[in-house]
Amino acid sequence: MCGIVGAVSQRDVEGILLEGLRRLEYRGYDSAGLATLNGEGNIHRAREVGKVAALADALAAQPSPGTIGIAHTRWATHGEPSQSNAHPHMSGERLAIVHNGIIENYQELRDQLRAEGYQFTSQTDTEVVAHLIEKFYRTEQDLFKAVTAAIGQLRGAYALAVLHADEPDRLVVCREGSPLVIGVGIGENFIASDQLALLPVTDRFMVLEEGDIADIRRDQISILDRNGEPAERDVNRFEHGQDAADKGEYRHFMLKEIHEQPAVIKTTMEGRLTDSHVLEQALGTEAGKLLEDVRHVQIIACGTSYHAGMVARYWIEELAGVPCSVEVASEFRYRKHVIQKDTLFLCISQSGETADTLAALRQAKKSGFRAALAVCNVPGSSLVRESDLVIMTHAGPEIGVASTKAFTTQLTALLIFTLALARHNGLTEEKEVEIVQALRQVPGQVAEVLALDADIQQLSEAFVDKNHSLFLGRGSQYPVALEGALRLKEISYIHAEAYPAGELKHGPLALVDSEMPVVTVAPNNDLVEKLKSNLEEVRARGGELFVFADREANVKTEDGIHVMQIPPVHPITAPIVYTVPLQLLSYHVAVLKGTDVDQPRNLAKSVTVE
Ligand code: M6R
Repeated sequence: MCGIVGAVSQRDVEGILLEGLRRLEYRGYDSAGLATLNGEGNIHRAREVGKVAALADALAAQPSPGTIGIAHTRWATHGEPSQSNAHPHMSGERLAIVHNGIIENYQELRDQLRAEGYQFTSQTDTEVVAHLIEKFYRTEQDLFKAVTAAIGQLRGAYALAVLHADEPDRLVVCREGSPLVIGVGIGENFIASDQLALLPVTDRFMVLEEGDIADIRRDQISILDRNGEPAERDVNRFEHGQDAADKGEYRHFMLKEIHEQPAVIKTTMEGRLTDSHVLEQALGTEAGKLLEDVRHVQIIACGTSYHAGMVARYWIEELAGVPCSVEVASEFRYRKHVIQKDTLFLCISQSGETADTLAALRQAKKSGFRAALAVCNVPGSSLVRESDLVIMTHAGPEIGVASTKAFTTQLTALLIFTLALARHNGLTEEKEVEIVQALRQVPGQVAEVLALDADIQQLSEAFVDKNHSLFLGRGSQYPVALEGALRLKEISYIHAEAYPAGELKHGPLALVDSEMPVVTVAPNNDLVEKLKSNLEEVRARGGELFVFADREANVKTEDGIHVMQIPPVHPITAPIVYTVPLQLLSYHVAVLKGTDVDQPRNLAKSVTVE
């Protein structure tokens, strides 16, 4: 999705803006641009289709010096990726703007502005906002007042940063539905849609609230809230260290993030578990009282986070005996639903800014749920700020578009939550101790799976020339199969479908032939014998099987079956551990195919528009 960076400084900001854009590349984009105000009081703008490197080349040929500026990576929504649609957009020669989000009433505003004589050079909704602010600037003669008046006419979601050549010492920024942070410096200040963009220049951040509008100067930041009242926002330090956004020794962010899993899963557990028990208070002071009342759980999420929710349903119903429903947010938000008494609304999101998940949460808060709990990775995100209770996953920044450590830490957090809920619903102490001890072993087990990397890389060669693949799992491994298929299709572009193995003969078996690799996860649980029969059904049709199986499950490599042995794992924690070989498999297939592993085509890290 689109990214914003801006700076007000004493030093030249072109390099800061370009580096910020590079750090936002992971979010997905199709063009990039930058505008600075030079020493002569003129705005210089550069825009290029394609990568930030193309913009950097253009700026090397024609530099854009200046101590104040705004920059943007665009992910096309209104109008194709082109230079004229790339941001910043300008109204005349004196006003430049960058925008994330979607203006819903842009057509109506565009018609109105055109009738008033404004000329449009792009197909974007953003250019409408530029002209609207310029229109108010004519009467207000103050950028802050002009932006305030203009946003009063906007419907939709936006984060905006605006620069005016007649006010060379200030940026005016605002947010409504799209994230924006202020990076606090010494004698200089910055803005960005994501803290990672600004780590080379500051580690202190202020998160704007919905409806805030801010006046950013070199040595001063003033904020008004949506009611026009002066507002103070906390300044927090970025807690993950400066190398969080570097690949380090790894070839791709995805590989780095896969290998971080033993450490970050441990971090997710920190302070929340003793050697044998869950520390309920660590979920919040209100958690105990709330969990006691919960009679039903409604989970909402998208993509990988939805798969985490599907695993959690197996856990919640098995361990807590509490009914649980799971639905993708984009469906949930547009249908009528019956809310049972004392239902906990649980949303799961890595970014905390996914538009559909946020919309579902906002709707839920008006619909009579008992409370809203968020499982999220990004501190200060909209989801975190708007939920009643939060369990942070503490995975650290995830840069690869394909979710890896975000998923396994979500599962860890969800299992801890399940145990806390189950304790109020008859879980025996003995069972709690057993599962907590199993959970404590997960980082070590994940490390053992990571050691299979070279073997999995070898296995991946069998997929490179295939166009289709099938993933199978049973019970709580079915969502793991879904996640494995999503991972493969997302980064290697091989069509991958996942089925509960018991569904095979109800249709998908028709697809099986020697050109269709079938990937299966087979921990040693009470469904393993049934799974083995399903595997025979595939084998009998000439299908080639790739099975990740528990050493003790007694599945052997033979003709048509390649078995990769996974260390013995408790059936409850198995979904966390069995996800990892599937991540490695898809990673290696994508590398062999030569795709853009960290930034797959057509995808964005955080889907902040509908
Ligand atoms: O940030 P969220 O967890 O809300 O994002 C939800 C999905 O967009 C995300 O999981 C997506 O499916 C990933 N690209 C999967 O790798």
